[in-house]
Amino acid sequence: MSKNQLIEFFEELENADEVTPLSSQKHLSRKRESKKNETDARLFVRAQELSREFHFTYKAARFEEAWLLDSLFEIAEHQWISDVLRKVKAGKEASVYLCKPGAAIPTADFVAAKVYRPRMLRNLRNDGLYRQGRADLDSEGREVIDDGMLHAMRKKTEYGRELLHQSWMAYEFTSMQDLHEAGADVPEPYTLSSNAILMEYIGGLDGSAPTLSEVDLDRAEAGPLFERVLHNLDLMLAHERIHGDLSAYNILYWDGDITLIDFPQVVSPKVNRHAYRIFERDVKRVCEYFNQQGIKTDPKGLAQELWTSRGYPILQTKPDPQE
Ligand SMILES: Nc1ncnc2c1ncn2[C@@H]1O[C@H](COP(=O)(O)OP(=O)(O)OP(=O)(O)O)[C@@H](O)[C@H]1O
Ligand SMILES: [Mg+2]
Repeated sequence: MSKNQLIEFFEELENADEVTPLSSQKHLSRKRESKKNETDARLFVRAQELSREFHFTYKAARFEEAWLLDSLFEIAEHQWISDVLRKVKAGKEASVYLCKPGAAIPTADFVAAKVYRPRMLRNLRNDGLYRQGRADLDSEGREVIDDGMLHAMRKKTEYGRELLHQSWMAYEFTSMQDLHEAGADVPEPYTLSSNAILMEYIGGLDGSAPTLSEVDLDRAEAGPLFERVLHNLDLMLAHERIHGDLSAYNILYWDGDITLIDFPQVVSPKVNRHAYRIFERDVKRVCEYFNQQGIKTDPKGLAQELWTSRGYPILQTKPDPQE
């Protein structure tokens, strides 16, 4: 698939629930229309091939189906999931789907599949800030040491960017594994495939857990939950990890408990020279939310206390011009 075809695919995916007004349909140029038909045909062929083997309850939008089947094929084949029930949310970097677990996960009622957008369509975030001092990981979560692969990533060739995408996902998965094992409030991760992460689902059949940003807490509840978030920040520091994009948008709230999500950009407090700045920003954003919920906070003081009590030195760095 070419880049343009993928872009069209995602335009379609994003507008899947909207009815295209006739007026804008008229404006589709002939060239674009024929390209669109070509894309349709390719994706349909792929979807047809895979859908012979897998039947999902979720009726995906036309283009989404091929992408979804392609991304979840491996996971379904290994019996991690037996069905896709519905789309939970389309995020900026990935879409999350509610799935029925397969025989490989006998204990869960539901699981969540985070399916990444194709690398070329993801936000061009400033990943240099997060990758500073961070080794790149392969699809198995092992450090990449192969010269050819390292070269491709440095040159950002097509292959190199694919490897960087893999590394990004591997960081998310391995961080969740370590943190879950350490007792942090993160979804239990089950498996990683080339384009998806399967994890514990937070929520019920009718609806997934809202993010904290969507919830107004009682004063009585806000205090203990704030302490719980700080406990998680401390536990993460103890395991040499900083979330890097923490805010009320990446914390789920369900049954009175919190769950931290969305870890691809984690950084190490020991290795990244901007670590303290990144950590302080996480603490500040969390404090902003809890301030609105009536909790008095001192973000700078808290960040310092958490950081130094784990024995890390405070290095103040300035943002790079491109940040
Ligand atoms: N394990 C889960 N259980 C239930 N819902 C989840 C789970 N993981 C993610 N979600 C939902 O999917 C949304 C997107 O997930 P996540 O933040 O990991 O992806 P993202 O693409 O990086 O999103 P964004 O760019 O919007 O932050 C979350 O805001 C949340 O609503
Ligand atoms: Mg998120």
